[in-house]
Amino acid sequence: MKITIIGTGFVGVVSAAVYASFGHTVVGLDIDEKKVQALRNGKVPFYEPGLEELLLEQQKDGNLSFTTDYGEAVGGSDIVIIAVGTPSTDEGKANLSYLYAATESLASHLKEGVIVVVKSTVPPGTLDAVDDILKTHATARYDLASVPEFLREGSAVSDTLNPDRVVLGATNEKVFEVLEDLHSPLKAPIVKVTPESAQMGKYAANAYLATRITFINQIADLCEHNGADVQEVISVIGLDKRVGGHYWYPGFGYGGSCFPKDVKELAYYSRLVGEDQNLFNKVNELNNQRINRLLTAYGKKIGGWEGKQVAVLGLSFKPNTDDMREAPSTKVVPWVVEKGAEVHGFDPKALKSAEYFLQDTQIELHETIEAAVAGADVVIALIEWSEIVAFDYASTKEDKKQYFIDARNQFNPEKISKAGYEYLGVGRK
Ligand code: UGA
Repeated sequence: MKITIIGTGFVGVVSAAVYASFGHTVVGLDIDEKKVQALRNGKVPFYEPGLEELLLEQQKDGNLSFTTDYGEAVGGSDIVIIAVGTPSTDEGKANLSYLYAATESLASHLKEGVIVVVKSTVPPGTLDAVDDILKTHATARYDLASVPEFLREGSAVSDTLNPDRVVLGATNEKVFEVLEDLHSPLKAPIVKVTPESAQMGKYAANAYLATRITFINQIADLCEHNGADVQEVISVIGLDKRVGGHYWYPGFGYGGSCFPKDVKELAYYSRLVGEDQNLFNKVNELNNQRINRLLTAYGKKIGGWEGKQVAVLGLSFKPNTDDMREAPSTKVVPWVVEKGAEVHGFDPKALKSAEYFLQDTQIELHETIEAAVAGADVVIALIEWSEIVAFDYASTKEDKKQYFIDARNQFNPEKISKAGYEYLGVGRK
């Protein structure tokens, strides 16, 4: 099959490379000439394990190409997948202007019988608006579908190749058949639903995970009041099969380009349809307040942030990515700087991103953990990159009082105490 992917952001590039690896002819389209040129040279504009290799391999095999030309990309395509960004406004309204612009641009190039798939995360009902645009601008007969994406950054290629499920949202059997065929190399259950259920399912999946994180963060906060250890509480609840022991890492709140945005959008959508008293407003609010709340509490324990030298380890929003969108570091660093601390930062991959995301903040960036922690009064292990967790902090202990904030409860408190630091976790004894 010939497949076109519109939008070469994170989801677009990963999907293009993976569909190409199934033996289809895939064309990735972006209106950004520079991005397309880089992709043609096998350069991915972000760090994602295994992606560049797959991209190069598929381009070499002739399965994958990139263009800025709608006619070239869409003409003759059996399936056109729209994977453009839908950033939300501050109040949580999804900005669908890129989606609508792409739909308008592709409409006149569609071949007879094509399936147009929306992969971008969009509110339920959006397919009707896409249909209205196509009705006005397309002459070919087409079908519509919604196929949301569930990959995680940092493990995007393996998530796409080994998904828990493939969700297909469509309204006729012929479309389901073609899309099932497209995903047949994946050993995963296929869930066939309406487009609205697919769209709600995407929001619900992310909102559930974000709520789960917020829940365990709240439990961690309560543990601070009574001497309980949240890690022990997790082992108590996690063995209940209805609850499960996974995805229970308390910390400084969820970040990234998906959870904060999708929770905010679901809250906005709830208000829009008259469900003002919704859970998602609260989840969003609690997550937004979290860093201020924790840093204020730690401030009391360390005798104030003013004049402290602070090492922030882990600047990306999670390990194995250089993405700093809604990363805890983008709030933590300005916060402690504002309180009068001097900050030194380290990240294995996100130093370049940090130059951009923290450009207005006073921070000295370092290539090594040793350099970042040298002279620190407070070490904040913010993100659980394996090198940050594995580092021997005893080797850099200095002859002064030093605090160690374990923002993701990744360290053994006794080991850190033995190394000479005062250990401060999240909801731990
Ligand atoms: C998330 C979902 O996990 C994917 O299924 C979804 O496809 C994606 O959003 C999307 O909508 O595109 P991602 O944002 O890459 O993927 O990362 P996660 O690993 O889910 O982490 C999200 C945030 O939650 C991170 O800030 C992470 O540190 C935090 N988190 C995660 C916790 O605080 N505690 C946990 O137990 C797990």
